[in-house]
Amino acid sequence: MVDDVPEGGVAGFGDLLVSRIGGEVRVTARKCTHADADLSCGFAGPDGVRCPLHLSVFDTRDGRPLNPPATEPLRTYNVKIDGGGVYVEQ
Ligand code: FES
Repeated sequence: MVDDVPEGGVAGFGDLLVSRIGGEVRVTARKCTHADADLSCGFAGPDGVRCPLHLSVFDTRDGRPLNPPATEPLRTYNVKIDGGGVYVEQ
């Protein structure tokens, strides 16, 4: 449910990371592309989600890393919100 993710927060569901930034719910891969870090343990900010291990920030709109050491983008998913549910296009 969309209410499971507070504004400015992140949550992991299986291999997916759901974030809510600026009122927008976005879904990306949960695992950092740099190494084996769980982005659901990271932090959401105005620019995206910060990895808890080496602190790369990923823009959750298109998955691209905004600073090193990560260089590869996260996979992103199209999302539909309906009746409080979050539906992800695979
Ligand atoms: S594991 Fe995420 S930036 Fe290194």
